[in-house]
Amino acid sequence: PGPLRLGVAGLGTVGAGLISLLRDNADIITARAGRPIEVTAVAARDRHRDRGIDLSRFRWHDTVAGLVSDPDVDVVVELIGGAEGTARELVESALAGGKPVVTANKALIALHGDRLARLSEQNRAPLLFEAAVAGGIPAIKTVREGLAADRLLWIGGILNGTCNYILTAMRETGRDFADVLAEAQALGYAEADPSTDVDGIDAAHKLTILASLAFGNPVIFESVHVEGIRRIGALDFSFARTLGYRIKLIGLARQSENGVEARVAPCLVPETSPVAQVDGVFNAVIAEGTYVGRLMVEGRGAGAGPTASAVAADLIDLARDTAVPVWGTRTTALTPVHSRPVSER
Ligand code: HSE
Repeated sequence: PGPLRLGVAGLGTVGAGLISLLRDNADIITARAGRPIEVTAVAARDRHRDRGIDLSRFRWHDTVAGLVSDPDVDVVVELIGGAEGTARELVESALAGGKPVVTANKALIALHGDRLARLSEQNRAPLLFEAAVAGGIPAIKTVREGLAADRLLWIGGILNGTCNYILTAMRETGRDFADVLAEAQALGYAEADPSTDVDGIDAAHKLTILASLAFGNPVIFESVHVEGIRRIGALDFSFARTLGYRIKLIGLARQSENGVEARVAPCLVPETSPVAQVDGVFNAVIAEGTYVGRLMVEGRGAGAGPTASAVAADLIDLARDTAVPVWGTRTTALTPVHSRPVSER
């Protein structure tokens, strides 16, 4: 087969990272994909902004419709973000037209994954989203493929790099919240609207996706309990330290006979536990299954390099024609479920 030709929508931190990665690792990517993976077209809001990369070889589209219908685009890579508007229109129209999509958009998959899974299946157009959860950690593949044979009891972890970065710096240096947030933004970790990070919403998006994959029914995002880190201050860190704990923003979903309970909240974790050692922009995905027991996978949860690496891994699956359905081996004809606190049942 010829090269796999990409149309990339959105040229922010991750888009620029992907273009660099495909260029720098072209030799191994071509070998592993069985053919070259090349960007042929791009669409972004500002054509003239300096992104520090050479875009002159790519065809420019001012609209996402133009990108989707470009005959030289085999795969649409959506790196715009946001659950509605342009990103959603792009992904829906690509899938409806039978074009595979790779996206890093956790809000879109968390809120509309079920509908998109059906579109993907009906039009035989794969939809891959490894980069949507925990940046560079292969979280989706771990749950969807690696743990496909087991019954999971619970799943979750540290799912927002910006919050973990902020909590780590506040604990270690005593600096204040706003100061450290500005640093996380400058490093390209934070969302366009950082309240999505610090209010726990981004972590809840990722938890919704993990729980949907883990427990076999799409979880309804609006039913997830969400609390962020804005109210954590110096006194909290001091009490936690005295008692032998660290403060982490934890997302956790568990399955019981009566359903799923999913929640995101700042938690005290014993300072000797493995999760307490995960600091800075690092994320950790933790789970327990009946046969596999407990596991933890740790890695960089945000930033250009890690996220681009996850996007490119999906592209290799497409190039090799080994993409799996959205919810893995689980069918798409499943019923969305609410998360309910165990105490309310
Ligand atoms: N803003 C996100 C985070 C980026 O800080 O984890 C990765 O999804």
